[in-house]
Amino acid sequence: MKYDVMLCKITEKKRLTADVFDLTVEAGELAEAASAGQFAHVYVPGKTLRRPISICEIDRAAGTLRFVFQIRGEGTAWLADACPGDTLDILAPLGNGYSLGNTRQKAVFVGGGIGVPPLLEAAKAFGENAAVLAGFRNEESIILKEDFEKYGNRVLIATDDGSFGYHGLVTDLLKGLDFTVIFACGPVPMLKAVCRTAAARGVPCQISLEERMACGIGACLGCACRLKKDGTEFYGHVCKDGPVFDSETVVWEG
Ligand code: FES
Repeated sequence: MKYDVMLCKITEKKRLTADVFDLTVEAGELAEAASAGQFAHVYVPGKTLRRPISICEIDRAAGTLRFVFQIRGEGTAWLADACPGDTLDILAPLGNGYSLGNTRQKAVFVGGGIGVPPLLEAAKAFGENAAVLAGFRNEESIILKEDFEKYGNRVLIATDDGSFGYHGLVTDLLKGLDFTVIFACGPVPMLKAVCRTAAARGVPCQISLEERMACGIGACLGCACRLKKDGTEFYGHVCKDGPVFDSETVVWEG
């Protein structure tokens, strides 16, 4: 895995919802090396640990990385205050991303809330062969719908309160679809439901567990996860072994 630290200038900033922001940075070789589903570590002044932020989009020709993140604490609040022209100290690309395989197969992407942005780069590669199922609390919290559509993806939205699209769980939308591979990122209950569907249908499935990361650098036990390989269970780290895993290798707690 090739990664490096770079001072990256912010070229664009947008506020997508009340607490979700969209930053594009000049990242040169980091963008060249990055792949869908990986993450970056952003230095926050005064904090010992860098903040893990998933990569939303990669533009290798322009040498830019795009990050869409939610304010969840002091670090991300500081990041949300950054402006075009400011410089971020970024360590990237980190972790293991999605293995896309044949992008002509029928793929379905399932995302929940802030788990939607890490799917964009992978879904982009599938274009019209991808359906994107995105779940949000309500209409106000919907993000990136037009971004997926711009790349030819068919987007179906579910909201918890029924204010937009399907009223209910985003995973309910899997029922009416035909697909041969699943990629997912979002809250654990959603991922568990996705894995059950993948197992029942016998299709390969990759899930990102990145929401469980704390330090992101292998320095804490915050991201320990039970994994299995060849029938043997062991503990791994989401930040180093993932954040993307084959669904069959993850052992769910409880
Ligand atoms: Fe701390 Fe992985 S998030 S060890």
